[in-house]
Amino acid sequence: MKVTFIDLQAQYRSIRDEIRQALERVVDSTNFILGEEVERFEQNFAAYLGAKHCVALNSGTSALHLALLSLGIKEGDEVITTTHGFIAPAEAISYTGATPVFVDINARDLNLDVSRVSDAITDKTRAIIPVHLYGQPVDMSGLMKIAGESGIPIIEDAAQAHGAEFLTERGWKKAGSIGEVGCFSFYPTKNLGACGEGGALVTDSQEVYESTRMLRNHGQKDKQYNHPFIGYNYRMTAFQGAVLDVKLKRLDEWTEARRARAALYNSELKDAPVKTPGEFENRRSAYQQYVVMVKDREGLMTYLQEKGVETGVYYPQLIPFQGAYRYLGHREGDFPVAETCARECLSLPLYPELEDDSIRYVCDSIKAWAKSV
Ligand SMILES: Cc1ncc(COP(=O)(O)O)c(C=O)c1O
Repeated sequence: MKVTFIDLQAQYRSIRDEIRQALERVVDSTNFILGEEVERFEQNFAAYLGAKHCVALNSGTSALHLALLSLGIKEGDEVITTTHGFIAPAEAISYTGATPVFVDINARDLNLDVSRVSDAITDKTRAIIPVHLYGQPVDMSGLMKIAGESGIPIIEDAAQAHGAEFLTERGWKKAGSIGEVGCFSFYPTKNLGACGEGGALVTDSQEVYESTRMLRNHGQKDKQYNHPFIGYNYRMTAFQGAVLDVKLKRLDEWTEARRARAALYNSELKDAPVKTPGEFENRRSAYQQYVVMVKDREGLMTYLQEKGVETGVYYPQLIPFQGAYRYLGHREGDFPVAETCARECLSLPLYPELEDDSIRYVCDSIKAWAKSV
C-alpha cells in the first residue's frame, strides 16, 4: 500500500468549483491586491477566532515581524521563544534587531517549557513568542500568568494551529486569540492553506491593529501617499483572500477530521514502542502534524519507506544550533529536551481525507517493525 504524507489534491477536489469561482471573481474584478475579498476574509477570520481585528498579510513571517514592530521591539531588546520548530519566529525577532532568547521545550507537549520562562526573563525582555507547534496549544494559562505578573506581552505563533483551542478561565479560546497578538501562516500545507503565500495577525488591540495595517502597506496612513514611518510591502493578494474565505468555512470540519485520525493513531499505537502526542483536558490540538517519538528513527523511517509509507522529520536541527544563530554560542546540552526531540521526532501521514485503512496500515507496519528489531 502507498500512504502519502499529505495530499492537497484530495482537499482541492472537494472544493474545486468554489475555489475556481472565487479565483475567477478576482480576475474579473481586476482588483488584485487587498480590497473587498481580503477585507471579507479578515472579518470572517477575526470572528472565527473571537478576536476584534485581523490584518491579512503576505506570510506568517511578516505577521510575526509586524507583531514585534507594533509592540515597539527594537535593537537591544530580548524576546523569549522556543528552540524546537521552524526558524521564522527567531528570524522575525532578528529582523527588528532584537535578540532571540531560546528556552527549552517540555517533553509533554513539545512546546516552550513555561516553567523555565521566568528564569529567562531579564530587564531587556520585551516579548515572549510561544509557538503552538504541530497544532498543539502551549500551556497558555501558565504563560498568561507570567505575562500578567511581568507586563511582558505574548505574541502567539499559531502558524500551525488554526482552530486549536485552550481552556482559559474565560472558557475555550482559539489559539492565537489569547495573547496580545496572534500570528498565522496560510502556507499551502497549513491547516488553512492559501493557493500561494499568505499570513495574518489578529489582535484585540486597536493600536496594534492600526499600526500593523499601515506597516503592511509602506507605512501609508491613507491613500494620499502620506507615510509617517517606514513600512513594508506585506499586503495580501485578493486571490488569497478569496480562496481563504472559501476554505475557512470548512476549517472546523477538517480539524475534526484531523482529530479523529489522530485518535485512531493513538489507539492503534497504544502498545507500540513509540511515544504518541500528549493529550490534555484543557487543550484541543488542531493536529497540523501527528508526531511520534522513537529512539531508532532512522530504522523506522527506512522500514516504513520500504512499506510505501511516507514520513517526515520536523525539525532535525534546533533553531539555536542553526548556522544563523551560531553567534549566540549555544552548545550541545543546553536544551536537553529539545535535543532529544530533534533526534527522535517523526511525523506520520496526516490530513483530513486520509483513510482509516491507511492509518491502520501505517500502525501495523510500525508494530511489525518493532517485532523485527
Ligand atoms: C511555526 C511557524 N511559524 C512561522 C511560520 C512562517 O510562516 P510563512 O511560511 O507563512 O512565512 C511557519 C511556516 O512554516 C511556521 O511553521
